[in-house]
Amino acid sequence: MQKIIILDFGSQTTQLIGRRVRELDTFCEILPYNKFPVDDPTVIGVILSGSPFSVHDPEAFKVDLSQFVGRLPVLGICYGAQFISHALGGKVEKADSREYGRANLQTTDISNPLFKGFEQHSQVWMSHGDTITAIPEGYECIASTKDVKYAAFSLTPSPSRGGEGSEYSHGGETSAEQITPLPPAGGVGGGAPIFAVQFHPEVFHTLQGSLLLRNFVVDICGSRQEWSAASFVDSTVAELKETLGEDRVILGLSGGVDSSVAAVLLNKAIGHRLTCIFVDHGMLRKNEFSQVMNDYKVLGLNVIGVDASKKFFSDLAGITDPEEKRKIIGRDFIEVFNEEARKANACAPSVVSEQTSSASLSTLHSPFKWLAQGTIYPDRIESLNITGKVIKSHHNVGGLPKEMNLQLCEPLKWLFKDEVRRVGRQLGMPEHLITRHPFPGPGLAVRILGDITPEKVRILQDADDIYIRGLREYKVKLSGEEARRVLAAGVPAAMQDGEIEVSLYDQIWQAGVVLLSSVRSVGVMGDERTYEHPVALRAVTSTDAMTADWAHLPYDFMARVSNEIINKVRGVNRVCYDISSKPPSTIEWE
Ligand code: XMP
Repeated sequence: MQKIIILDFGSQTTQLIGRRVRELDTFCEILPYNKFPVDDPTVIGVILSGSPFSVHDPEAFKVDLSQFVGRLPVLGICYGAQFISHALGGKVEKADSREYGRANLQTTDISNPLFKGFEQHSQVWMSHGDTITAIPEGYECIASTKDVKYAAFSLTPSPSRGGEGSEYSHGGETSAEQITPLPPAGGVGGGAPIFAVQFHPEVFHTLQGSLLLRNFVVDICGSRQEWSAASFVDSTVAELKETLGEDRVILGLSGGVDSSVAAVLLNKAIGHRLTCIFVDHGMLRKNEFSQVMNDYKVLGLNVIGVDASKKFFSDLAGITDPEEKRKIIGRDFIEVFNEEARKANACAPSVVSEQTSSASLSTLHSPFKWLAQGTIYPDRIESLNITGKVIKSHHNVGGLPKEMNLQLCEPLKWLFKDEVRRVGRQLGMPEHLITRHPFPGPGLAVRILGDITPEKVRILQDADDIYIRGLREYKVKLSGEEARRVLAAGVPAAMQDGEIEVSLYDQIWQAGVVLLSSVRSVGVMGDERTYEHPVALRAVTSTDAMTADWAHLPYDFMARVSNEIINKVRGVNRVCYDISSKPPSTIEWE
């Protein structure tokens, strides 16, 4: 499959570039700046990301442009643009003042293929401390703003090769011998074009950013736009069938979207040779265990539900330290999962679907060979730290039953979260399972400040249920950047007259209630004085949980929810709203 390579120089928006490219039905990989896959013939274009560095910093990340310049179309964004200018004979200097925020392009060369279809004065988003003061010889300036002369520049040599898809592209299957030599720095040679923009087309505030990326990816690089939820499902199911053969697979379900979609995909590929285990630690949301178990059964999954809440409550009794709670829950979870896996390993699944052929029935008795996980692409992208070392982001495969000698199967490992949701829809999963907010593994345990008891969990479940139901029922109309953000996150809503209508639940990334069980305050209900606990409502907007903003929920909604919680939930007499952003706070309180 054709792909775009995004070389990461450490910008916070690199993942966003990836998501925007995928929205163009084009596969892309995000790689550290120094790991360009020179020998990969499927690469059709290269994007250089932004960076926290200045090109003049001694520790700035540098890439050898000769690996792809002239051979493949290149788009440099922000630092990527400055690096191209700096490396090819232009000039980059400290800007008089940091250029940050919205700006309008004053002149735009709409005859340039990068700006095809652009309006004049289009709004863009700038975020840089350096600025380009001279572009390499032979390159042309194709856009400026009031403060930034070289907002965009390019080298668009006459196409020297024909090719599929675009006048520049090679269709994604070039052999090393076909490589066009690098044009002389600054000179207009043959070969593939170079584009550079100092603004960020990947962020929503750049209003025609998606069009710019489409022009680059589709027209200039010649993407065949073959990456879609449907093509992913077809190719992944075929691959899983091929790789797994008659093997049995075990998977831990959490009720969340990633593990659920992974399970349904695997179920489509290998049917009841997949065994799923869903552990109830007693700190899920109200009625969640039974509702989700029911969903899984309707989806035809072979799932073992285990109510292990007694064990968890007993092991957590009296524990107040958040980290200790997490450790106990993690340890207990692995114990329960391993025990169930051992039991399931010893016998065939209790439910056998109609799809299961009698020939493959015997394989249902063989031991598990694979452990499947709902790992998604952002969990695996190698991230850069500012010392230049490449580190792997955390990836929890700890606690595998060692004697089972399992191999790891991660069918969603190339997908962003919104793509997981699209795949879930493609697989016919119910919408409430697909749009479910992220929920921490330790569940309500990290939302009860202090020790955990079944009664405190009951209080929190009741308050949380009112809050989440309220968020689902309250509809809001969104337009502009906010509407585009919500649609890009995969929420299904039709745009009408420039507006979409969604629930508050779908507008936000994650919401929950926190029980301040170690705090009591005085209240009055009827003629009675109360001395009970406060709860804090939390709701945040985010794209990846790395940073988050508190959601500006409507006052009438908060008033209604606060009333209902205080009137209906025994044990709560005060409701607060958490207005902290991440950083410096975190999403969860513990
Ligand atoms: P924080 O609180 O660090 O949370 O801003 C970021 C995201 O991670 C979730 N979270 C967890 N998920 N086990 C999990 O599986 C945990 O211990 C845990 N702690 C936080 C949190 O809900 C948010 O989506």
